[in-house]
Amino acid sequence: MSKTIGILTSGGDCAGLNAVMRAVVHRSALLGWKVIGIQNGTAGLLEKPYRIRELKPEDLDGFTMRRGGTILGTTNSRDPFNYLMDDGTYKDRTDEVIAAIHELGIEALIGIGGDGSFDILSRLAKKGGINMVGVPKTIDNDLALTDLSVGFDTAVGIATEALDRLQPTAASHDRAMILEVMGRDAGHIALNAGIAGGADIILIPEIKYSIEGIAKKIKQVKDEGRNFALVIVSEAVTTPDGDKREMVYHGGETRYGGIGEYLCPAIADATGFETRATVLGHVQRGGQPTHNDRLLASALGVKAVDLINDGQFGKMVAWQNREAVAVNVEDAIAKCRVVDMNDPLVHTARSLGISFGD
Ligand code: F6P
Repeated sequence: MSKTIGILTSGGDCAGLNAVMRAVVHRSALLGWKVIGIQNGTAGLLEKPYRIRELKPEDLDGFTMRRGGTILGTTNSRDPFNYLMDDGTYKDRTDEVIAAIHELGIEALIGIGGDGSFDILSRLAKKGGINMVGVPKTIDNDLALTDLSVGFDTAVGIATEALDRLQPTAASHDRAMILEVMGRDAGHIALNAGIAGGADIILIPEIKYSIEGIAKKIKQVKDEGRNFALVIVSEAVTTPDGDKREMVYHGGETRYGGIGEYLCPAIADATGFETRATVLGHVQRGGQPTHNDRLLASALGVKAVDLINDGQFGKMVAWQNREAVAVNVEDAIAKCRVVDMNDPLVHTARSLGISFGD
């Protein structure tokens, strides 16, 4: 047994990734494992020499574990099963990745990722006989079987702070302010930040809204004598007709975006309020992790190494009832965890008089 763990970050970055690595490296050192960091996800194994570096406890203490981003780099567009080559063709390069992992003597691989990354890594693990454990990270918090994923708390904190900053300018100008937040198909960021940041209206993809519903709430706010309103909207919310708002980037890749700008004139027309939209974007992914994300990262990182040390693979570490537990990675990605209508926070929001525009 080589007692070597490989670790990589994959998919979109978020705050807390370096804190996971710090926990993995410290726990590994205590249990006698060496840790090799693989750069840019599995793509780091498709270059010669391999893009790897040994991670030691002293590398992750001090500044690093406090930093946002990932010191290993990451990618959300280099699927080794369908790898875009320089000549524009796609190729299955999984054999190269698998060979590299075995050549490096990596006995277990920790993937810090979201649903897309875990789908790729678990198929890779099956194909190549790789012992894999996943640590959940995503600001979207949409992985099943874990109450929280690393990065979510920081993103919610940033969105809440954005509402804190929009409120005084809204009040100074008699305006309705719309804040568009990320979250892909799940409305968790908008729901959590909307409650914490005092939004009047929370629009999430899981609850159908109408412009009339929004206008009704804003009228109520006006009638109560308030001169401003705060609206938070998830990026995947569609127009009332069900049209997705998307941005097209270089190479034709699409991402959600634009619902805030769409709603701006619609709300202004329906309410008479001067309205402005702010798109928070990748600000939600950067910056220092909150203490909650660092705690989660620490507990999950330690648990991932403990699973490996116990010979348990094909697992994702999960946070359930204030405890790090193991679940089958395939169960965690079987279904996107969107906001459930029985989520206690939906009840909390409605009880506070917050409207979902319905
Ligand atoms: O999954 C995380 C996330 O930030 C989503 O909330 C967002 O829709 C997407 O990634 C943005 O992707 P990219 O970083 O490729 O623009």
